[in-house]
Parts: sequence; C-alpha cells; structure tokens
Amino acid sequence: MKITLQHIDKSFGKVHANDDINLTIPSGTIQGILGENGAGKSTLMKILTGYYQADSGEILLDDMKVKITSPEDAVVRGIGMLHQDPLDFPPMKVIDNFLLGTKGGLFPNRKQVENEILRLSNEFDFQINPDAFVETMTVGERQQLEILRLLWLGVKVLILDEPTTGISANQKDKLFATLVKLASQGLTVIFVSHKLEEVEQLCNRVAVFRQGKLVGEVDPPYRTDQFVYLMFGKNVEVGEKASFCTDDTYIKLKNIGLEDYRLRLKDINLEIKSGEIIGLAGMEGSGQRLFLRMLAGLMRPVSGNIYIDGVDFTGKNYHVFQNSGVAYLPASRLEEGLIPGMTLTEHFILSEKHRELFVDQRSAMDLTEERIKTFNIKGTPVSQVEQLSGGNQQRALLALLRKRLRLILMEHPTRGLDIESAIWIWSKMKERCKDCASIVFTSSDLDEILQYSDRILVFFGGLVSPPINAKSTTVDELGQLIGGKGW
Ligand SMILES: Nc1ncnc2c1ncn2[C@@H]1O[C@H](COP(=O)(O)OP(=O)(O)O)[C@@H](O)[C@H]1O
Ligand SMILES: [Mg+2]
Repeated sequence: MKITLQHIDKSFGKVHANDDINLTIPSGTIQGILGENGAGKSTLMKILTGYYQADSGEILLDDMKVKITSPEDAVVRGIGMLHQDPLDFPPMKVIDNFLLGTKGGLFPNRKQVENEILRLSNEFDFQINPDAFVETMTVGERQQLEILRLLWLGVKVLILDEPTTGISANQKDKLFATLVKLASQGLTVIFVSHKLEEVEQLCNRVAVFRQGKLVGEVDPPYRTDQFVYLMFGKNVEVGEKASFCTDDTYIKLKNIGLEDYRLRLKDINLEIKSGEIIGLAGMEGSGQRLFLRMLAGLMRPVSGNIYIDGVDFTGKNYHVFQNSGVAYLPASRLEEGLIPGMTLTEHFILSEKHRELFVDQRSAMDLTEERIKTFNIKGTPVSQVEQLSGGNQQRALLALLRKRLRLILMEHPTRGLDIESAIWIWSKMKERCKDCASIVFTSSDLDEILQYSDRILVFFGGLVSPPINAKSTTVDELGQLIGGKGW
C-alpha cells in the first residue's frame, strides 16, 4: 500500500512535534525514519495509526484521502504498528492473544488458528509456541508474536518504532530478514530508529527528522556524515578515546559480598585505579545498582572489605565516603538528585552550604550564572529544576558536583539525552579523570560502555565477570555475556 502524508502538523502545548510533514512511501519499500530522541518520529507514526489526530494535514492510502480514527481503524485499513514501549500483555496464551483479535460473530476454529500460527512462525524462522504464556516470553519473542498477529490480521503496512531495543543480536538478524522478505512480498515497512547503522543496513530510503521537521530524504548509497549532518544540523565530533587511567590503586575491593532481598553477589575482587573509568553492563536489576551503592557507602557489604587509598572503609557510612571524595549520581534525577520546586540558585546555595560564600543572594546568583554558562544549561538562576529538560537537569547535576572528587558513581548518565548532550557530558567527565578522579557508571547502551570505559564488568544472574579490557572486546561479546552466554 502506498502512503502519502501531506502537510501533517501536530503540537503538544508549546512543542511543535510535527511541523508540516510531507512524505510519500511507495509499496514494497522499507522506509527508514531517522532522527534523534524527540525529533517527532513516534508522533508521526501515532498519527498514521490513529492514536493521535493531526492538528492539520491529510493522509492518503493508495491515493485515497482517509481519516484514521483509532488504532483499530488503522488495522482494519491495513496499517499495523509495533510500539516503542513494550506492550503490556494480559496473562494469556499466544493462541488466545490471536483469537482476541478476531471479529465477534465468527467462531474461529482453535486448531486452525494454531496451525496458522505455526505456519507463519515457520515461514519466518521464529520459534513461537501457540500454547506458551505471553508473559513468559522475552521482548524479542513478543515482538515476533506481534508481527505474526498483525500479518495474520492482514496488514499491508507494518510500522516498527525503535524495534531493536531490548532484543538479542540473533533476534535482530531474524527481524531484519523478516522485514526484507515482507517488503519483497509487497508490504510497506516503516522502520523508525535513532540508530544510524541500523537504518543504513536495512532501509531502501530514509527520511531524516530534526526538531519536528522532515529535513531530508536520502537514497542509497548512504554516507554516514550526510546523515549526521541532517540529524544534528552540523557535524558532531565524537570525543576521541583518551584514557587517563594511572597505575595508582584508589579503591580495592576484597572478597566483597552483597545482598538485598532478591539478589546475592559473591566474592567480588577489584582494584580501581585513579583516573580509570569502569563501565557496568548487564540487564537492569542484575546487581549493578547494589555495586554502585556499596561504593557510595549507601549499602554495607555482607562480607569482604573496601579500601580507599589503603584505608579500610568497610562499614563506614555515606557521609564518610562523601568526605573522602566520593559522589553518587543516581538515575532518577528528580527523585534522588535534584529537588523539585527549588531553583538552580537554591541548589547551588545548598551544595555550597559549608562555606561562607553565600552571605547574600547576589553572590549566589552570580555564581549560578557562571555555572549556567560553564555547563551550558538552558535555564536561568530562578528556573525551577523540574522545568528544565532532561539534558539540562543532567548538566545541572554535574554543575553541582564538588571540585575535588576522587570517585564519581553514575547511573545511566546519558539516558534519554540527545547525542550532543551525551558527548558534552562525557567530555566534562573526562576532565575529571584527567584530575585523577575515577568513574564507575552503568548504562544499557553497550556502545557507550565500550566507548568510554577502560574496563568493563558484566553482571548476570548474581555473577560478576572479571574486569574486561574495553579495547579487546566487542558489543557482540558483551551482549552474549549479558544474555548469560559464555560464563
Ligand atoms: N503526548 C505528548 N504530550 C506532550 N508532549 C509530547 C507528547 N508526545 C510527544 N511529545 C513531545 O513531542 C516531541 C516529539 O516526540 P516524539 O514524537 O516522541 O519524538 P521521537 O519519537 O522522535 O523521539 C518531544 O518533544 C516530546 O516531548
Ligand atoms: Mg519515539
């Protein structure tokens, strides 16, 4: 089915999420929709599938003007979408999930539907068991299930919004092969992603979005620098891989054991060097957080010892750790890091409270203004922190860090941020390493872990890997370990 979008416009309050979008997608194409977080990709797809109504503009299917009123209406018209956020499935079997989609009045033959699931599953080399309970399936399997279900409902257009988040490398290969096959059968595939490599690998043509606008349409052969230019409106330099790791051991962990109500980690031994960056990889909840909190003095190990600069810190509290130069930046910026309702200036006053610096508001404002400038924060001294965007909140947190730090612990330091902010934040962190600080951080982005770490620890099911040299490993190798292979 051919899709034509004309002058599509959509605003959410002051945010112009889609600004006069014009795009035609012929049948049998794999159309890439590329753009940074917040560029407006999902909004456009939700308009095309009836989740949102455009403020203005037209949608044409095979050159006929249509009004798509709801997601169900979209499926009836032949457009199905796999969502960015994993769907919540009720506790039911695969087969019932299929039967649920059939129209009332019909009494579908269970056996027949089961055979149909197996046939489709075979055709695409998926392993879907009609009798499995959906809640026991991995994200990748649910995604396969949802593709099969939409095909079974007869969609002619398949939209996938950031479909490779949370699935294995093997499932990704199968997904891509499936999409190529579907397109060759005449289906229209729309592949939404902020990942350049994926779009380059898979798509026949690519539309690039930036700040709500469609800023370019690109055909193969692709040039990466051209995409980068379109996505960011300028050439972005990725910081070079400088390491400031020294030979001095700053922290030594000896036979550390950690426990909370559902997880137990045993016998962790590690020396963290001054200036070193250690990345913690693993599925969410595999113990990375326990590990960080132990290093922050927020969680006591159940066994073993922590030495900082040769001194035994085991059992000492958070304030003692803090006073020796340890800082902890939690993932939830607004819940644990910043204080909603307070302005930037008030935050700086609080963080500097031990000094005489702020006898008057004026000097507090001055210092805040200076920090806003140095840390490139889009906001004013009187902006309340919850009014800032995620990237600016993160910059504010960094601006609040004390000068002489020896160990900085960060959870997902760049999650949800655009590439430019992420690169900027890491350049600031590298300056800290140059000043001899060590960094330990978690991230679900393996590219980030590889790019910035000196060494990497992988967490899986209560196990912690020996430190892995970032120079001698790959995303694939880490992915295997994270998934429990190769231990
Ligand atoms: N339901 C909504 N309410 C308010 N703002 C929204 C809503 N959905 C999206 N936005 C805003 O619209 C912009 C585009 O978002 P989105 O389409 O999700 O971008 P992308 O999918 O490219 O990351 C963002 O600034 C986002 O915060
Ligand atoms: Mg999106």
